[in-house]
Amino acid sequence: MSLQTSLIYTKGGYQSYDSAKLGLLTHALHYGTACFEGIRGFWNEALQELFLLDLQAHYDRLQASARILFMSMPETTAELIEITRELVRRNAFRTNIYLRPIIFKSSEEIGVRLHDLEEQFALIAVPFGRYVQAENGLRVCTSAWRRIDDTAMPARAKVTGAYVNSALAKSEAVLSGFDEAIMLSADGHVSEGSAENLFLVRHGVLHTPDCSQNILEGVTRRTVIELAREAGIDVVERAIDRTELFVADEIFLTGTAIGIEPVVSVDHRKVGSGEAPVTRRLLSRYDDVVHGRDPAFRSRLTGVYH
Ligand SMILES: Cc1ncc(COP(=O)(O)O)c(C=O)c1O
Repeated sequence: MSLQTSLIYTKGGYQSYDSAKLGLLTHALHYGTACFEGIRGFWNEALQELFLLDLQAHYDRLQASARILFMSMPETTAELIEITRELVRRNAFRTNIYLRPIIFKSSEEIGVRLHDLEEQFALIAVPFGRYVQAENGLRVCTSAWRRIDDTAMPARAKVTGAYVNSALAKSEAVLSGFDEAIMLSADGHVSEGSAENLFLVRHGVLHTPDCSQNILEGVTRRTVIELAREAGIDVVERAIDRTELFVADEIFLTGTAIGIEPVVSVDHRKVGSGEAPVTRRLLSRYDDVVHGRDPAFRSRLTGVYH
């Protein structure tokens, strides 16, 4: 099935991707006035089931982002979960997928503002493989672009306009020969990657920037913190200096698209010994969780077919 013929959900019904059209003056296109989520679905061959990961957390975050942009979602989180299952079922996906719900200011008029505008919700589902191509971990750089500050743009909301910040950093990194960028906050502390949260291990303790470091409050980040604590690993959420990246024993990035991905070098400095036992342990646990092999986390998965 091609993207064009796949089914999407919008304006209260299901239709083909190709038949959904937007006018060129759509507000969100000009002013970045939309918010969205990225959600993954993992195909389990043995169970012949497609598991959608953390729908509740993603739709709750979408509702929170929408609130910040003076939008009100037409559907409740419970309704969105049902719509999502139905959309995937209608597309009959039997592979890993990526879901992109988005709510955007749909009025076709000139004028920058957030109030007195119409809104439209849409949900698109596509087959999805690996997000990063690096086979042996990521070579990252700290970006010259600073992470947007909450005083200028709400970092905890997944607002489309804010992704220009991520795109600037990502392209700068890739065009300079790196795989990914780490952005610092305006005051010089480590914030996050272009679309990932960051963790480092020092002396057996896991450290990650706290929620006041202009991070997106990642769903995967939360799961990793839970998995680590469950495994008896201490987790500290705090401000992290750039040079701590150079002396860390392990570093990894987390995100819906990327999962858990080890970082092998930062600004040309090799990370630790390269063995990364904590990262490998968490990765293996995360893999079990997302594929429905861990009964304790089964409630985080929504099955599509059964
Ligand atoms: C800027 C940014 N930070 C972090 C993340 C990781 O968040 P999550 O684990 O919810 O995907 C994402 C991806 O959604 C992101 O876009």
